[in-house]
Amino acid sequence: MVPIPNHNIYEKIGIAGLGAIGSAVARALTSEKGIGNMRLECISDPYAKNHFGVDKVSFEELTERSDLIIECLPAATVPELTKVVFAAGKDILFISAAALLNYPHILKELGVSKSHAYLPSGALCGLDGVLGMKEMGITSSKIASTKPPKGLKGAPYVVQNDLDLDAFTDKTLIFEGNAYDAAKGFPANVNVAASLSLAGIPADKTRVEVWVDPKATGNTHEITVKSDYSTLVSRIENLPDPANPKSSALAAQSIVATLRNMTSKLGIY
Ligand SMILES: NC(=O)c1ccc[n+]([C@@H]2O[C@H](COP(=O)([O-])OP(=O)(O)OC[C@H]3O[C@@H](n4cnc5c(N)ncnc54)[C@H](O)[C@@H]3O)[C@@H](O)[C@H]2O)c1
Repeated sequence: MVPIPNHNIYEKIGIAGLGAIGSAVARALTSEKGIGNMRLECISDPYAKNHFGVDKVSFEELTERSDLIIECLPAATVPELTKVVFAAGKDILFISAAALLNYPHILKELGVSKSHAYLPSGALCGLDGVLGMKEMGITSSKIASTKPPKGLKGAPYVVQNDLDLDAFTDKTLIFEGNAYDAAKGFPANVNVAASLSLAGIPADKTRVEVWVDPKATGNTHEITVKSDYSTLVSRIENLPDPANPKSSALAAQSIVATLRNMTSKLGIY
């Protein structure tokens, strides 16, 4: 029996979007181990086949019944959810970091609402160091993401530039720009660039490179962040989520780890 900590204020958890990531979080919440005293209250996804034994409801009902809403949606549907959540003053955990750059009104509305939001590290690592460095003043911040062709297929930047991803025979740089442009061009592929900018320096100063590598078996993210006192270089190699090649399996587990931190006597950030 997991001891129930008295500081965790979230008991009823609602998940919006039951795809690769939402399902992994639902599995963790409904597993025998569970996550502290949290329980899956309901889910919202009109296309979900597995309900994990709870009600499938609208965003309105999800918000009303949950203490904390976990957002695991396609980026374009996030504003529809935040409108409801912020109006009710409920708290939300985001995984679609790119949506926060692509729809800037979300953070503006969060700022004037009673809601609080959480952004886990997702498929990235090293944000703990970036946060500490931000306190001292970051002088430069860069991320280079490398994915196999199937991890970038359908991205607006790829479509608009008519890139035939399968034609590349070697690792090739296909995009170089700032985090705003990366979020627009790759809203489902480089959430990590948005997370880095939100943790570090503004999106227009966060440099982003996107590489396609036909020989890559997974998604690699390398960040280089500098301040006057520290230089952080961090690299993570993630296998794609079997349920969605654009996602990394680690992203869902970063949500589970964040929820576990909320329910633990010792939270590690
Ligand atoms: N922060 C990170 O590091 C990171 C990493 C990977 C993915 N992501 C992002 O996380 C999000 C979820 O990723 P995923 O791999 O689970 O995607 P997915 O496509 O597997 O799942 C999305 C789910 O949302 C559902 N959905 C679509 N429209 C909906 C609506 N209007 N209402 C309710 N549900 C709806 C779909 O049916 C699907 O089940 C995406 O935005 C993705 O880009 C972030």
